[in-house]
Amino acid sequence: MKPLFGSLILLVCTLLAHLQNTSAASNTTSRCRNVPGNPGYPSAAEWDALNTTVFGRLVTVVPSAKFCASLAGGACTEDQWTSALFRATIPGAMEQPNWEQGYDHTPPSLCLQNGITCGQGNVPLYSVEAETVADIQAAVNFSRIHHLRLVVKASGHDYLGRSTAPSSLLTRTRNFQNVSFNDSFFIGSTYMRSTVTLGSGVFGQTVYTEGKANGKIAVGGSAATVCIAGGWVQGAGHSALSPTLGLGADNVLEFDIVVASGELLKENSYPDLFYALRGGGAGSWGVIVSATFLAYPTFNATSSVIYLVAENDTVTASLAALHAEHIFDWDSVHAGQYFWFRKNGTGSSAPSVLFLVTYMPNTTVEQSIALLAPFINASLALPGVSLVSQEWTYGDINDALYQADDSVGTNNVLGSRLIPASMYRDSPGTVGKVYKELLDNGATELLGNLVAGGKVAENVNISSAVHPAWRTAKTHLILSAKWDDSASLAEINQTRHFFQNVQRPILEELSGPNAGSYSNEGDVFEPVFQTTFFGPNYSELSAIKLKYDPEDLFIVGAGVGSERWNEWGLCRV
Ligand SMILES: Cc1cc2nc3c(=O)[nH]c(=O)nc-3n(C[C@H](O)[C@H](O)[C@H](O)COP(=O)(O)OP(=O)(O)OC[C@H]3O[C@@H](n4cnc5c(N)ncnc54)[C@H](O)[C@@H]3O)c2cc1C
Ligand SMILES: *[C@@H]1O[C@H](CO)[C@@H](O)[C@H](O)[C@H]1NC(C)=O
Ligand SMILES: *[C@@H]1O[C@H](CO)[C@@H](O)[C@H](O)[C@H]1NC(C)=O
Ligand SMILES: *[C@@H]1O[C@H](CO)[C@@H](O)[C@H](O)[C@H]1NC(C)=O
Ligand SMILES: *[C@@H]1O[C@H](CO)[C@@H](O)[C@H](O)[C@H]1NC(C)=O
Ligand SMILES: *[C@@H]1O[C@H](CO)[C@@H](O)[C@H](O)[C@H]1NC(C)=O
Ligand SMILES: *[C@@H]1O[C@H](CO)[C@@H](O)[C@H](O)[C@H]1NC(C)=O
Ligand SMILES: *[C@@H]1O[C@H](CO)[C@@H](O)[C@H](O)[C@H]1NC(C)=O
Ligand SMILES: *[C@@H]1O[C@H](CO)[C@@H](O)[C@H](O)[C@H]1NC(C)=O
Ligand SMILES: *[C@@H]1O[C@H](CO)[C@@H](O)[C@H](O)[C@H]1NC(C)=O
Ligand SMILES: *[C@@H]1O[C@H](CO)[C@@H](O)[C@H](O)[C@H]1NC(C)=O
Ligand SMILES: *[C@@H]1O[C@H](CO)[C@@H](O)[C@H](O)[C@H]1NC(C)=O
Ligand SMILES: *[C@@H]1O[C@H](CO)[C@@H](O)[C@H](O)[C@H]1NC(C)=O
Repeated sequence: MKPLFGSLILLVCTLLAHLQNTSAASNTTSRCRNVPGNPGYPSAAEWDALNTTVFGRLVTVVPSAKFCASLAGGACTEDQWTSALFRATIPGAMEQPNWEQGYDHTPPSLCLQNGITCGQGNVPLYSVEAETVADIQAAVNFSRIHHLRLVVKASGHDYLGRSTAPSSLLTRTRNFQNVSFNDSFFIGSTYMRSTVTLGSGVFGQTVYTEGKANGKIAVGGSAATVCIAGGWVQGAGHSALSPTLGLGADNVLEFDIVVASGELLKENSYPDLFYALRGGGAGSWGVIVSATFLAYPTFNATSSVIYLVAENDTVTASLAALHAEHIFDWDSVHAGQYFWFRKNGTGSSAPSVLFLVTYMPNTTVEQSIALLAPFINASLALPGVSLVSQEWTYGDINDALYQADDSVGTNNVLGSRLIPASMYRDSPGTVGKVYKELLDNGATELLGNLVAGGKVAENVNISSAVHPAWRTAKTHLILSAKWDDSASLAEINQTRHFFQNVQRPILEELSGPNAGSYSNEGDVFEPVFQTTFFGPNYSELSAIKLKYDPEDLFIVGAGVGSERWNEWGLCRV
């Protein structure tokens, strides 16, 4: 019975595909992009010709679990599966493998770690593993001419799944590894001081090792493999150095980018595109080849990792309120800080751990201890809070920010809001109350990023697409939800919508109802993503999009223009 049943399904699928093909027009004004089986989809000979144009750098793409299954031994080790460095070697891999899964395909198309069956899911079909500008131009032209779904990927870190899509052609920029410091960089006849030009595949960790070797520091993120000149800067780019030196987007001077027409633009000559690339959202404008950032003389800093435990949710909330009261204590040195609360156990009587990672530029360990003491002392005076460990390190800021790898490989979605400084100033108690409500409603992990204020606020008059909520914010608060591969589709759907259905209204007690979120670390299901991610800049961004990408070649979830497309950018709605 089984084989017969199998071929029956195959027959039905073929019929369905045929029906879809006849309904989808095959020219460039049609509603849907070309997918395999459409008359307009490139022939094998046309793919071969593309491969020849890119000197054999066209590869077929498989989900990461299938790649692992093809290795000697038939699997990846757990260390490989969870390593961002390792996953970045696999064209089809996303760092969070949930984005590879076609949960909502009919039937679902999944390829799970060590699974028995494997569907292609939302993984692209081919990738141009670009090494030159001409490779990128060939991929862009081919996608435009054949009306294909094109996606762009540097590291695959994206939390909104924007660097993958089903039935697509991928262009990966991981091979763009140039790092070049320049002490006399000019734009036209304007001297721009010291700079570093980064290829769009350069990892954050490389910026710090090269920075140290050159006595320089550039603003980058707190991750090993996030690509500074890829998605990071287009979203805004926050850093522990942002209170001192501004956002990534505030520090960029120039991009080299291939736009939808296939042209390579140096877009400081195109002020509107330059505006859009600084905060207007990753993946919506073209394929970045490289970007040039300000570089500063490096300096020493004290970094510290403090680890506290709060014995139950009531205590966790009091600790969060106390942290809010003290959050301005470190402004004199423009500190950056990450503060994670993570439940260790379930139920309101289970403890939470607080990891407090603080970077203080140009301070000694003694100064740093003195600046954190009022908060630490007050914390330890709260019944139910205990200190597990503390560690203080003085040295080059590049060493402090360097990370060896990122721990990834889990199914993970986020939801977030930028929290105004005024909330912390006027009403720190509300912070504690909201943390308690979030915990009561099933939150297990809250990541606070103290990466605004200071220079981020001072940069308010820079004309860029950075969401203005960044300029008045103090922190960016992120809620995260995870599931394991044994979860049912219904559970996964519930987890994926948990932020919108349950947590967002609670978080909005802190942010306000129409507040901003950071487009690189947010929820792809934001119902009014236009204002949530882009604020008042959206209409200008839409006009710029129409000018440089009139046919919507570059469409990503919750990105500019995506309201015209279905979830994966395959058909106009
Ligand atoms: C562990 C971890 C830590 C993080 N830490 C920080 C942090 O400290 N600060 C911060 O601001 N953010 C942080 N992020 C979020 C990060 O900014 C985003 O995930 C960002 O999208 C990563 O960009 P990427 O190019 O590396 O990723 P990818 O997944 O490769 O791409 C992300 C987006 O950028 C587009 N893109 C990629 N390459 C190009 C290119 N060459 N040209 C045009 N578009 C491109 C893609 O199409 C996609 O839309 C972190 C993320 C993770 C997973
Ligand atoms: C292209 O498709 C559109 C929409 O289906 C149709 O109206 C148009 O006539 C087609 N044009 C050509 C040249 O086939
Ligand atoms: C592209 O060409 C290379 C080198 O000839 C070959 O190894 C590769 O398999 C080709 N890619 C595809 C998708 O056929
Ligand atoms: C790297 O930089 C060199 C020198 O500026 C340039 O010739 C080369 O094209 C660049 N490579 C890439 C991939 O950008
Ligand atoms: C620095 O950049 C300028 C252009 O702004 C260029 O003329 C010069 O050659 C560069 N120097 C180095 C060392 O790359
Ligand atoms: C891409 O298309 C543009 C515009 O049609 C053309 O100028 C360019 O030469 C093409 N580039 C490549 C590499 O095919
Ligand atoms: C940074 O600290 C090191 C010792 O850890 C010292 O040798 C160096 O001079 C300091 N650099 C600056 C710029 O203060
Ligand atoms: C979580 O709780 C367990 C069991 O009580 C303990 O062994 C572990 O150290 C805790 N983890 C953290 C990060 O505090
Ligand atoms: C650190 O101190 C040096 C020397 O006083 C100064 O030049 C530099 O601007 C300071 N850097 C920061 C980030 O405060
Ligand atoms: C914090 O506590 C330590 C140790 O009890 C004490 O030496 C220090 O004076 C206190 N600092 C402040 C600012 O309260
Ligand atoms: C939480 O812990 C504190 C401190 O030990 C204790 O006073 C309080 O009764 C506990 N609350 C609950 C609800 O368990
Ligand atoms: C920004 O511009 C406004 C209007 O010109 C001005 O009043 C304000 O002082 C400027 N703010 C900063 C931080 O430069
Ligand atoms: C998933 O959940 C959302 C929101 O709760 C709901 O609107 C949607 O219908 C669900 N989808 C499926 C396939 O169950």
